Amino acid sequence: MIALASDHGGFELKNAIKTLLDELALPYKDFGTDNAAPCDYADYAAPAARTVASGDCDRGLLFCGTGAGMNCAANKVRGIRCVVCSDCFTAEMSRAHNDANMLALGGRVVGVGLARQIVKIWLETPFSGDERHKRRISQIAALEAAPTLRVGLRSLPLNAEP
Ligand code: RB5
Repeated sequence: MIALASDHGGFELKNAIKTLLDELALPYKDFGTDNAAPCDYADYAAPAARTVASGDCDRGLLFCGTGAGMNCAANKVRGIRCVVCSDCFTAEMSRAHNDANMLALGGRVVGVGLARQIVKIWLETPFSGDERHKRRISQIAALEAAPTLRVGLRSLPLNAEP
């Protein structure tokens, strides 16, 4: 099951991607919005992200004007690795290397044709499972759980000067 959500800026693109999901016979659940009236993206990103984090949905697709607001909001939910994406290479790598579980797209950035390609690649690309990528993903999870990130022999306070 794929979770979908948009604000008004991504509403049309979300509807276009529903057509793609129908063609691919992939089931989805739409967490709104259900019209083009202005609304606040976090209100819709949150329930979609929570359902992916809980495992009730396998992946999620988010849509706003740029993808940025939806992406920021979704990544505040523990367990979510959301990427905002407007090219096919990032779509592929975000699955193969980052095991991204949500994808955010900008309805004012990408056209329907490119968005369809991005979504198809993102849905069809598996995580590589390489140990180095697993290690890096567990470092992301550690950031959610603890105030310091341990990388190899280093312990980096999150607010340290570079
Ligand atoms: C709404 O105007 C717009 O700010 C929103 O859709 C999104 O692009 C925010 O990141």
